[in-house]
Amino acid sequence: MVAGARPNFMKIAPLMKALAGDPHFETILIHTGQHYDDNMSGQFFRDLGIPDPQYHLEVGSGSHAQQTAEIMRRIEPVLDQLRPTAVIVVGDVNSTAAAAMVAKKLGIDVVHAEAGLRSFDRSMPEEINRIVTDAIADLLLVTEESGRTNLLREGVAADRIHLVGNLMIDSLQQHLERARSSDIADKLGVRGRSYGVVTLHRPANVDEPEGLGEILGALGAIAETLPLLWPVHPRTRARLANQDISLPAGLRLLEPLGYLDFLSLEANAKLVLTDSGGIQEETTVLGVDCLTLRDNTERPVTIELGTNRLAGTKRTTILAAWEHTKRSPRKKQIPPLWDGRAGERSREVLRQFYGRPASKGSLQEHRLAAP
Ligand code: UD1
Ligand code: UDP
Repeated sequence: MVAGARPNFMKIAPLMKALAGDPHFETILIHTGQHYDDNMSGQFFRDLGIPDPQYHLEVGSGSHAQQTAEIMRRIEPVLDQLRPTAVIVVGDVNSTAAAAMVAKKLGIDVVHAEAGLRSFDRSMPEEINRIVTDAIADLLLVTEESGRTNLLREGVAADRIHLVGNLMIDSLQQHLERARSSDIADKLGVRGRSYGVVTLHRPANVDEPEGLGEILGALGAIAETLPLLWPVHPRTRARLANQDISLPAGLRLLEPLGYLDFLSLEANAKLVLTDSGGIQEETTVLGVDCLTLRDNTERPVTIELGTNRLAGTKRTTILAAWEHTKRSPRKKQIPPLWDGRAGERSREVLRQFYGRPASKGSLQEHRLAAP
């Protein structure tokens, strides 16, 4: 199993847990080191109870080519030595595509968890990573029906695609109780539903001063009536430091938060404004109104069934979406199979695919497995 960046850790944790202790599987974790600050990596191992990785490649930051190449260069000898049955990659970050390409060229199977999502926006680096990974994956585990539809349209064989649910939501369900006892709200002096939460890290939103200025303008206007807590991603922190940008009052900048503290604030927020992929999914399950500061999403089910709305990236579009949300908050409807059992379903699919017998009491035996 390969992980490297913050959103990978919530996805590997429940899958590793589901595979642990099952005699059919031995899991070896490789951390690429794409994210390396304690508050972007180590904290999540502690919060989610992920065992230390057996291999740490320590690639660090760089341009896309440098980072992707460095992951490939460093992971190749490890995979060549281990020769696992399969390499499991999750999500859409550079670590995902890099590890998948190396594995496949060594003749090792690739399993992609969270396959098939498409924003249809090829200016997003993640969209390139998704397309590349899915094109070579042997087994594709999808979170929502759109994933299956997209993969079938791209010519992936139907028997390689399995709707298993959402691993990130497994993590949410496994840790929500603990998150609710976090004291972060007290530390920050905020009460439930009386604040909003902001996260921003898409290059398209934060790398250019003009675009970032539009978003900050909207956040400033919202913060006049709803204080906004903003744990700032390191990419964005660097952009704010480099640019001559004045921050509106009412916007409270924080360091990136650990998983439990963030989940606690997110679950009790009145509103979340974000360009994160995973947070669109979490707010849907938590029933918290979410404005996605983008023009598209690769997670359409969060709009069709969930609490998510596309708000665009201009001051006027974001404020219009906020007014709309105040008038008609979204009703919570949880997408099919986002029930906390995606890890178990993934394990059963892996068993079937690699010809391992199902164990007694498995989901498969009870005919609960995804169609
Ligand atoms: C990456 C993923 C993105 C994902 C995001 C989650 C790719 C192409 N992008 O974007 O899909 O949504 O992670 O958070 O894989 N930095 C630090 N400390 C760290 C990590 C990063 O300071 O621990 C800074 C560095 O200045 C670095 C910058 O953040 O250059 C960007 O990091 P990088 O991993 O390249 O991309 P993200 O924007 O984090
Ligand atoms: N998250 C967190 N602390 C923060 C911001 C986000 O723990 O300060 C969690 C969030 O709950 C979700 C995940 O990080 O589980 C989303 O990761 P991110 O937004 O970095 O990546 P994306 O989902 O956009 O790829």
